[in-house]
Amino acid sequence: MIDFHSHILPRMDDGSKSSEMSVSMLEASYEYGVKTMVATPHFYITHDTADKFITRRSASYDALKSHIAQHSAPLPDIILGAEVYFFRGISKYDGLPKLAIGDTKYILLEMPFERWPEKYLTEISDITEETGLIPIMAHIDRYLDFQKGTDNIERVISMGLPMQMNAEFINAFFTRSKALKLIKDGVVTLLGSDCHNMDNRRPNLGQALGIITKKCGGDTVDNIISESKRLLGL
Ligand SMILES: [Fe+2]
Repeated sequence: MIDFHSHILPRMDDGSKSSEMSVSMLEASYEYGVKTMVATPHFYITHDTADKFITRRSASYDALKSHIAQHSAPLPDIILGAEVYFFRGISKYDGLPKLAIGDTKYILLEMPFERWPEKYLTEISDITEETGLIPIMAHIDRYLDFQKGTDNIERVISMGLPMQMNAEFINAFFTRSKALKLIKDGVVTLLGSDCHNMDNRRPNLGQALGIITKKCGGDTVDNIISESKRLLGL
Protein backbone atom coordinates (compact mmCIF):
# COMPACT_ATOMS: atom_id res chain seq x y z
CA MET A 1 0.00 0.00 0.00
CA ILE A 2 1.02 3.60 -0.51
CA ASP A 3 0.14 6.30 2.01
CA PHE A 4 -0.27 9.43 -0.10
CA HIS A 5 -0.54 11.99 2.70
CA SER A 6 1.56 12.08 5.87
CA HIS A 7 3.36 14.44 8.22
CA ILE A 8 6.19 12.06 9.12
CA LEU A 9 9.17 14.37 8.64
CA PRO A 10 10.51 15.51 12.01
CA ARG A 11 10.11 19.14 13.09
CA MET A 12 8.81 20.31 9.71
CA ASP A 13 5.30 21.34 10.74
CA ASP A 14 2.66 20.31 13.27
CA GLY A 15 3.43 16.64 12.52
CA SER A 16 6.24 14.50 13.92
CA LYS A 17 8.18 16.22 16.69
CA SER A 18 11.32 14.05 16.53
CA SER A 19 13.11 11.41 14.46
CA GLU A 20 12.10 8.86 17.12
CA MET A 21 8.43 9.73 16.63
CA SER A 22 8.85 9.56 12.84
CA VAL A 23 10.32 6.06 13.06
CA SER A 24 7.41 4.95 15.29
CA MET A 25 4.98 6.30 12.68
CA LEU A 26 6.84 4.52 9.88
CA GLU A 27 6.93 1.28 11.89
CA ALA A 28 3.19 1.43 12.60
CA SER A 29 2.50 2.06 8.90
CA TYR A 30 4.73 -0.80 7.76
CA GLU A 31 2.96 -3.18 10.13
CA TYR A 32 -0.31 -2.76 8.25
CA GLY A 33 1.28 -3.05 4.84
CA VAL A 34 2.38 0.43 3.77
CA LYS A 35 5.52 0.04 1.65
CA THR A 36 5.78 3.65 0.52
CA MET A 37 4.90 6.86 2.34
CA VAL A 38 4.62 10.19 0.61
CA ALA A 39 5.91 12.78 3.09
CA THR A 40 3.76 15.88 2.67
CA PRO A 41 4.69 18.61 5.18
CA HIS A 42 2.54 21.72 5.12
CA PHE A 43 3.66 24.47 2.76
CA TYR A 44 2.21 27.94 3.34
CA ILE A 45 3.29 30.75 1.04
CA THR A 46 2.77 33.16 3.94
CA HIS A 47 5.52 31.37 5.93
CA ASP A 48 7.93 29.96 3.34
CA THR A 49 9.34 30.21 -0.12
CA ALA A 50 9.75 26.99 -2.08
CA ASP A 51 13.55 27.26 -1.73
CA LYS A 52 13.44 27.80 2.03
CA PHE A 53 10.99 24.92 2.36
CA ILE A 54 13.20 22.55 0.33
CA THR A 55 16.23 23.45 2.47
CA ARG A 56 14.28 22.79 5.68
CA ARG A 57 12.84 19.58 4.27
CA SER A 58 16.28 18.28 3.23
CA ALA A 59 17.63 18.88 6.74
CA SER A 60 14.64 17.13 8.30
CA TYR A 61 14.92 14.18 5.92
CA ASP A 62 18.69 13.85 6.48
CA ALA A 63 18.14 13.74 10.25
CA LEU A 64 15.47 11.06 9.82
CA LYS A 65 17.62 9.03 7.42
CA SER A 66 20.53 8.87 9.86
CA HIS A 67 18.08 7.71 12.53
CA ILE A 68 16.61 5.08 10.18
CA ALA A 69 20.13 3.82 9.39
CA GLN A 70 20.43 2.64 13.02
CA HIS A 71 17.11 0.82 12.78
CA SER A 72 17.15 -2.87 11.87
CA ALA A 73 13.44 -3.59 11.21
CA PRO A 74 12.07 -2.83 7.71
CA LEU A 75 10.33 0.50 7.18
CA PRO A 76 8.41 2.02 4.26
CA ASP A 77 10.29 3.95 1.57
CA ILE A 78 9.78 7.70 1.72
CA ILE A 79 9.00 9.94 -1.24
CA LEU A 80 9.28 13.66 -0.58
CA GLY A 81 6.46 16.03 -1.35
CA ALA A 82 4.47 18.84 0.22
CA GLU A 83 0.89 19.66 1.15
CA VAL A 84 0.62 22.99 -0.63
CA TYR A 85 -2.01 25.31 0.78
CA PHE A 86 -3.92 27.15 -1.94
CA PHE A 87 -3.21 30.85 -2.43
CA ARG A 88 -4.22 33.46 -4.96
CA GLY A 89 -1.57 33.46 -7.65
CA ILE A 90 -0.52 29.82 -7.05
CA SER A 91 -0.86 29.07 -10.76
CA LYS A 92 1.77 31.74 -11.51
CA TYR A 93 4.15 30.83 -8.68
CA ASP A 94 7.49 29.83 -10.21
CA GLY A 95 8.48 27.82 -7.12
CA LEU A 96 5.58 25.40 -7.54
CA PRO A 97 7.45 22.69 -9.56
CA LYS A 98 9.88 22.35 -6.63
CA LEU A 99 6.96 21.28 -4.42
CA ALA A 100 5.92 18.37 -6.67
CA ILE A 101 5.85 14.84 -5.27
CA GLY A 102 9.13 13.04 -6.00
CA ASP A 103 9.99 13.24 -9.71
CA THR A 104 6.35 13.50 -10.74
CA LYS A 105 4.27 16.38 -12.06
CA TYR A 106 1.75 16.03 -9.22
CA ILE A 107 1.34 18.40 -6.28
CA LEU A 108 -0.83 17.70 -3.24
CA LEU A 109 -3.12 20.72 -2.99
CA GLU A 110 -4.92 21.68 0.22
CA MET A 111 -7.90 23.94 -0.34
CA PRO A 112 -9.36 26.47 2.13
CA PHE A 113 -12.06 25.18 4.48
CA GLU A 114 -14.79 27.44 3.18
CA ARG A 115 -17.17 27.58 0.24
CA TRP A 116 -14.93 28.05 -2.79
CA PRO A 117 -15.75 31.07 -4.96
CA GLU A 118 -15.55 30.89 -8.74
CA LYS A 119 -12.07 32.46 -8.81
CA TYR A 120 -10.65 29.55 -6.77
CA LEU A 121 -11.90 27.02 -9.33
CA THR A 122 -10.43 29.07 -12.15
CA GLU A 123 -7.11 29.24 -10.33
CA ILE A 124 -7.07 25.43 -9.83
CA SER A 125 -7.58 24.79 -13.52
CA ASP A 126 -4.96 27.45 -14.35
CA ILE A 127 -2.33 25.50 -12.38
CA THR A 128 -2.08 22.83 -15.07
CA GLU A 129 -2.36 25.33 -17.88
CA GLU A 130 0.37 27.61 -16.50
CA THR A 131 2.79 25.09 -14.98
CA GLY A 132 2.00 21.66 -16.43
CA LEU A 133 1.61 20.38 -12.86
CA ILE A 134 -1.47 18.36 -11.89
CA PRO A 135 -3.03 19.06 -8.48
CA ILE A 136 -4.12 16.10 -6.37
CA MET A 137 -6.97 17.30 -4.17
CA ALA A 138 -5.82 16.63 -0.59
CA HIS A 139 -8.41 15.05 1.75
CA ILE A 140 -11.43 15.79 -0.44
CA ASP A 141 -13.62 14.48 2.41
CA ARG A 142 -12.83 17.54 4.51
CA TYR A 143 -14.33 20.00 2.01
CA LEU A 144 -17.64 18.28 1.26
CA ASP A 145 -19.73 20.05 3.91
CA PHE A 146 -18.38 23.47 2.92
CA GLN A 147 -19.36 22.97 -0.75
CA LYS A 148 -22.97 21.87 -0.04
CA GLY A 149 -25.45 23.67 -2.26
CA THR A 150 -22.84 24.23 -4.98
CA ASP A 151 -21.53 22.07 -7.81
CA ASN A 152 -17.93 22.78 -6.82
CA ILE A 153 -17.03 19.16 -6.08
CA GLU A 154 -18.56 17.98 -9.37
CA ARG A 155 -16.63 20.68 -11.19
CA VAL A 156 -13.34 19.64 -9.63
CA ILE A 157 -14.13 16.02 -10.50
CA SER A 158 -14.85 17.05 -14.09
CA MET A 159 -11.38 18.64 -14.27
CA GLY A 160 -10.10 15.06 -14.01
CA LEU A 161 -7.90 15.74 -10.98
CA PRO A 162 -6.90 12.83 -8.73
CA MET A 163 -8.68 12.88 -5.36
CA GLN A 164 -7.11 11.78 -2.08
CA MET A 165 -9.30 10.78 0.86
CA ASN A 166 -8.27 10.47 4.51
CA ALA A 167 -8.57 7.08 6.18
CA GLU A 168 -10.54 8.68 9.00
CA PHE A 169 -13.50 9.25 6.66
CA ILE A 170 -13.67 5.49 6.08
CA ASN A 171 -12.93 4.51 9.68
CA ALA A 172 -15.59 6.77 11.23
CA PHE A 173 -18.90 4.92 11.29
CA PHE A 174 -21.11 7.90 10.35
CA THR A 175 -19.18 8.84 7.20
CA ARG A 176 -18.24 5.31 6.10
CA SER A 177 -20.98 4.72 3.54
CA LYS A 178 -20.31 8.09 1.89
CA ALA A 179 -16.58 7.27 1.84
CA LEU A 180 -17.11 3.85 0.28
CA LYS A 181 -19.42 5.31 -2.37
CA LEU A 182 -16.74 7.81 -3.42
CA ILE A 183 -14.33 4.90 -3.83
CA LYS A 184 -16.81 2.62 -5.62
CA ASP A 185 -17.76 5.44 -8.00
CA GLY A 186 -14.10 5.93 -8.86
CA VAL A 187 -14.10 9.55 -7.62
CA VAL A 188 -11.44 8.84 -4.99
CA THR A 189 -8.45 6.83 -6.17
CA LEU A 190 -5.81 7.71 -3.56
CA LEU A 191 -5.75 7.23 0.22
CA GLY A 192 -3.78 8.84 2.98
CA SER A 193 -3.54 8.62 6.74
CA ASP A 194 -2.69 12.33 7.10
CA CYS A 195 -0.90 11.10 10.23
CA HIS A 196 0.71 13.73 12.44
CA ASN A 197 1.79 11.78 15.53
CA MET A 198 1.29 8.52 17.46
CA ASP A 199 -1.62 9.80 19.53
CA ASN A 200 -4.78 11.46 18.21
CA ARG A 201 -3.64 11.57 14.56
CA ARG A 202 -1.71 8.33 14.26
CA PRO A 203 -1.21 6.17 11.14
CA ASN A 204 -4.67 4.66 10.57
CA LEU A 205 -4.78 3.35 7.03
CA GLY A 206 -4.79 -0.30 8.16
CA GLN A 207 -8.33 -0.13 9.54
CA ALA A 208 -9.55 1.63 6.38
CA LEU A 209 -7.99 -1.02 4.13
CA GLY A 210 -9.71 -3.75 6.16
CA ILE A 211 -13.08 -2.01 5.74
CA ILE A 212 -12.59 -1.48 1.98
CA THR A 213 -11.58 -5.12 1.51
CA LYS A 214 -14.63 -6.33 3.44
CA LYS A 215 -17.17 -4.00 1.81
CA CYS A 216 -15.79 -3.60 -1.73
CA GLY A 217 -13.43 -6.56 -2.16
CA GLY A 218 -9.69 -6.97 -2.49
CA ASP A 219 -9.78 -5.85 -6.14
CA THR A 220 -10.71 -2.34 -5.02
CA VAL A 221 -7.64 -2.15 -2.79
CA ASP A 222 -5.52 -3.53 -5.65
CA ASN A 223 -6.87 -0.78 -7.93
CA ILE A 224 -5.98 1.91 -5.39
CA ILE A 225 -2.47 0.48 -5.09
CA SER A 226 -1.94 0.32 -8.86
CA GLU A 227 -3.27 3.86 -9.37
CA SER A 228 -0.99 5.13 -6.58
CA LYS A 229 1.99 3.40 -8.18
CA ARG A 230 1.11 4.74 -11.61
CA LEU A 231 1.04 8.33 -10.35
CA LEU A 232 4.36 7.89 -8.57
CA GLY A 233 5.96 6.12 -11.56
CA LEU A 234 6.69 3.00 -9.44
FE1 LIG B 1 -2.22 17.02 5.98
